[in-house]
Amino acid sequence: MKFVIGSDHAAVALKNRLRDQLREWGHEVNDVGTNSSESVDYPDYAHVVAGEVQGGAAERGVLVCGTGVGMAIAANRHRGVRAAACSDAFSARMARQHNDANVLCLGARILAPEYALELLRIFVDTPFEGARHGRRVAKLEPPEGRC
Ligand code: RB5
Repeated sequence: MKFVIGSDHAAVALKNRLRDQLREWGHEVNDVGTNSSESVDYPDYAHVVAGEVQGGAAERGVLVCGTGVGMAIAANRHRGVRAAACSDAFSARMARQHNDANVLCLGARILAPEYALELLRIFVDTPFEGARHGRRVAKLEPPEGRC
């Protein structure tokens, strides 16, 4: 698959580890930074990653910050983007099976790196179940005139 990955300064090391793992698994990965400990604003990276997924340049995105929460809030402003901040394996699996999440958001200040890699594996390997969940996922986009 084609991935795009980004982080803020709080999560560079974990972002690099996730990127390298995805490449080892044979995926194509566009790393949009950041690449140093210099303080940056997480929404700047979230919007780049979400924009690539929204526009189709990448099939899936990964965003990493201190908690994953700010990244998810920003990424979900983009139509067609379903970003899930996950800190446990069950949520990561459900985010794929039921929500068809296309962006995984992780917290470098929450997760041990090995566990973050496990959540990434689940995000990559778990298929969307479709059926009734397809109808619900279609309703995630706000109805015309409602926002
Ligand atoms: C940066 O200090 C921190 O606010 C950011 O990494 C993230 O946790 C935001 O949601």
